[in-house]
Amino acid sequence: MKRRNFRRPTAPPLKPGQTEYEFGIPIPGTILPPEQWAKTAIKRMGDEPMDWNEVFSRPGPVALDIGCGNGRFTIASAVARPEWNHIAIDFLPAVVRYGTRRGNQRGLANCRFAVIDGWRMLHTCCSDQSLSEIHIYHPQPYSDPNKSHMRMLTPEFILRMHECLVNSGRVFIQTDREAYWDYISTAMKSIFDWQPIETDWPDGPEFRSRREILARKQGLPIFRGIATRKNDWQREQLDEIISKLAMPGFAID
Ligand SMILES: C[S@@+](CC[C@H](N)C(=O)[O-])C[C@H]1O[C@@H](n2cnc3c(N)ncnc32)[C@H](O)[C@@H]1O
Repeated sequence: MKRRNFRRPTAPPLKPGQTEYEFGIPIPGTILPPEQWAKTAIKRMGDEPMDWNEVFSRPGPVALDIGCGNGRFTIASAVARPEWNHIAIDFLPAVVRYGTRRGNQRGLANCRFAVIDGWRMLHTCCSDQSLSEIHIYHPQPYSDPNKSHMRMLTPEFILRMHECLVNSGRVFIQTDREAYWDYISTAMKSIFDWQPIETDWPDGPEFRSRREILARKQGLPIFRGIATRKNDWQREQLDEIISKLAMPGFAID
């Protein structure tokens, strides 16, 4: 019998001027006619630190979103802060495709998406003191104890964030896992000025990520904090503090 080809139904393409929604919440930015679309994909990340001024063809403070998922935060931030240059990365190509398409359709020339591991991004592609902000929304919790070694926020990763930030640069972190939050708070405050945020982000609901929307729907608590780079460390002090921090081997229910 001849096999029939089934095509998975897809959403109709968005029309210029149309508002895009996810879970009933608008994704900021205006869909432009195709001739005004941007090219936001970085197809290949090299093995050397990137020159962000060259990538964006202009100078500007750089905000890096690590584990960006479908890019909701970066899209909202790039729309709200046109003077900032935004890089969003995730190691899953499928989710990066969403962000790239959204950035392209909105003509966001201040925005780039790339498929790359967060560790490689910081250690290979970012030079010291080259980032003004790092954003990490809902880092993968890896609740399965056999996978807990894959958690991204280790002491070394936290040290590398410190090194990559400019003076007084900031890390914005959010999670819905209390055990991860406890670990992050202890580790971050050992070398950063650490400020837990008890309310929603002051810059508005449009800065929510997809995972935050889902977590809120499930009634999970959201933990948020801002870490500001302290500049008064000697190199040896930093290394000593980091060497004494525990690895993120905590259990998650
Ligand atoms: C729970 S999702 C959160 C996504 C998005 N930030 C949000 O809040 O909706 C975690 C994301 O981190 C990505 N991720 C996990 N480990 C990573 C790593 N080492 N490097 C880059 N991305 C990673 C996953 O692919 C996933 O998209």
